[in-house]
Amino acid sequence: MLETTDTEALARQTRITLARNAASTATARRGLAVSGAAGMGKSTALQLIGKRHEKAERTRLDRITDSAFAPVVYAVVPPATTPKMLMQAFAHWLGLPVLQRATAQTVTEQVVSVLRTLGTTLVVVDEVHNLTTNRQAGAEAASALKQFADRLDATFFYAGIDLPATDLFAGNMGRQIKARMIVHQMRPYGIGSKADREAWTELVLGVEDLLPLAGHEPESLAEEAAYLWDRTGGSIGALRALLSDAAIGAIIDGAEKIDRRRLDATATDYAADEHHKAQAIRPAQPRKRGLKRAQ
Ligand SMILES: Nc1ncnc2c1ncn2[C@@H]1O[C@H](COP(=O)(O)OP(=O)(O)O)[C@@H](O)[C@H]1O
Ligand SMILES: [Mg+2]
Repeated sequence: MLETTDTEALARQTRITLARNAASTATARRGLAVSGAAGMGKSTALQLIGKRHEKAERTRLDRITDSAFAPVVYAVVPPATTPKMLMQAFAHWLGLPVLQRATAQTVTEQVVSVLRTLGTTLVVVDEVHNLTTNRQAGAEAASALKQFADRLDATFFYAGIDLPATDLFAGNMGRQIKARMIVHQMRPYGIGSKADREAWTELVLGVEDLLPLAGHEPESLAEEAAYLWDRTGGSIGALRALLSDAAIGAIIDGAEKIDRRRLDATATDYAADEHHKAQAIRPAQPRKRGLKRAQ
């Protein structure tokens, strides 16, 4: 995992949010929402934050190996979520048995009481765009989430695709949720300015450094930064996947290094492919080589 500008900004915001929530008991607690397209690193960043909070809390309270203590829970919202399914996801994470006929309220009660016992102070809800309010069940799901957050004395973090446009923030319940939420937007890396290109190159070199290749010259991928941006559209997920696949190829055939030829021969995922084709028909494309030398 790499410390990116996004993970740094989120870590800072996390400290502020947790401190504020710990200090104020009466007022409504604040939450943090991480929004952005798939592959931007939302889940990775929140898992990193969760891990750090877990470690810090265990150390602070001297409960390092206490298995009856769970400062952080992480749950993923299943597609087309009903209130019951949502709370079942939490119950599932906790390993709680849920009766077939249990209502959403019953499961919420179960989950809240177990989380209190476990001393949970941070709840991470991922893929929250799967909540929908255009059907009645979805509206209930958003309100179930809010009730859950109100009942538990913990800080809630959400992650999902383009959250401000989703139903979580729509309607009555959405307005209440929005009023208490700081939204961190995760965008693809750019290549427009010198600072953008430097940040992207730093990322490329960071990811390169993670590759276990015996014959690869360190920092040689700096030269391919502009090319890699074209291939991936500035997505950290697509970059990581492309370089990992290239590295696997290089290990399998014994070359143990990555160059342009290897990258050309390595496929990217469909979304990155689409981006690459769109780049290719842009008239500005030939100038890319010039941009590369400007670094
Ligand atoms: N901070 C990071 N350091 C290293 N790799 C990362 C980082 N963030 C994301 N990635 C890579 O990008 C991929 C996609 O990230 P993910 O967090 O799943 O994106 P999202 O949740 O936004 O769809 C991950 O599998 C990981 O390989
Ligand atoms: Mg994710």
